[in-house]
Amino acid sequence: MENTELSKKVMLSGIQPSGDLHLGNYLGAVKNWATLAEEFDCYYFMADLHSITVRQNPAELRRRSLAQLAQYIACGLDPEKNTLFIQSHVHEHAELGWILNCYTMFGELSRMTQFKDKCAKNADNINGGLFTYPSLMAADILLYQADYVPVGEDQKQHCELTRDIAVRFNNIYGETFKVPEPYIPKVGARIMGLMNPTSKMSKSDPQGCVFLLDSPEEIARKFKRAVTDSDTESCVRYAPAEKPGVANLMSIYSSVTGKSFEEIEKEFQGKGYGAFKPAVGEAVIEALRPVREEAQRIMADKAYLQQVYTQGAQKASAVARRTLRKVYKRVGFVEKPF
Ligand code: TYM
Repeated sequence: MENTELSKKVMLSGIQPSGDLHLGNYLGAVKNWATLAEEFDCYYFMADLHSITVRQNPAELRRRSLAQLAQYIACGLDPEKNTLFIQSHVHEHAELGWILNCYTMFGELSRMTQFKDKCAKNADNINGGLFTYPSLMAADILLYQADYVPVGEDQKQHCELTRDIAVRFNNIYGETFKVPEPYIPKVGARIMGLMNPTSKMSKSDPQGCVFLLDSPEEIARKFKRAVTDSDTESCVRYAPAEKPGVANLMSIYSSVTGKSFEEIEKEFQGKGYGAFKPAVGEAVIEALRPVREEAQRIMADKAYLQQVYTQGAQKASAVARRTLRKVYKRVGFVEKPF
């Protein structure tokens, strides 16, 4: 058992519990994680340390962290086959984050798109954590010697910076970190908002954002009101530049049904948006129904959730400790006597 685990490549990813999980998180990330457990040694966590870079309501943050864990499991992440944990329970993340801050350049951090976006959205709280967010993310990844990081497209830049930090550290101190690669799905890597298809789906626009725990009625309503485009053609055709709303709905439909864009175009030939939008809504409702029902059942079982995150933190800590010890030695810290 131990040997197979060691020979498997490592997958690692996380989501901030700063909002409830939405369709973008699901199609861009979690849905794909569930298929990887047999082939890889998988670690998935609730990135609660990252989420406080934006002011959170403490009770809500606690509730969402546990709800997120329940949704991970409901999406098919079996806790016996995946290591599921809460980031703040493994203190090595914060410790390696500090070290890596010292190997990450001001200029690199200043160029991060997510930092610039978040500054624009939180002008009254541009704190140090928001700026050094990517070095903590690099610590998350490098602690586990991850080979792959399954994320949506928006996290590609952070993954590339992680690689640069790992290479820089290895060049100074010798081979210490595995240099990871992002693992981005072909369809669903960038789901756009239903009301504004030129910006990515996010919780900050709740009307254009479908949450995993939304009721079927709510999902149907959101898709019915989805923006398509202003032409009169009403033709279901994949043309992201001309018809971003339709292209987004096609990506969602393709991602949940497995149908190709050509198949979708054929299916809705001559039918128009009036038939297409509710069909996408229906497909999403059916895809999310088992997730919602199972998540609600698991969320009610607090003892089970506690058992999962305790076991997850123990497994994760054992790995994280090993890497951090190596790093402390490399940079020249005196070995801890206990
Ligand atoms: P976060 O919490 O913003 O998003 C979690 C995951 O969902 C993907 N995602 C999307 N995919 C497609 N379309 C969208 N509209 C969409 N919105 C979000 C994201 O790409 C991501 O995969 N920094 C990370 C959290 C993190 C992390 C890590 C990830 C912290 N440490 C280590 C990987 C490894 C973040 O903010 O994701």
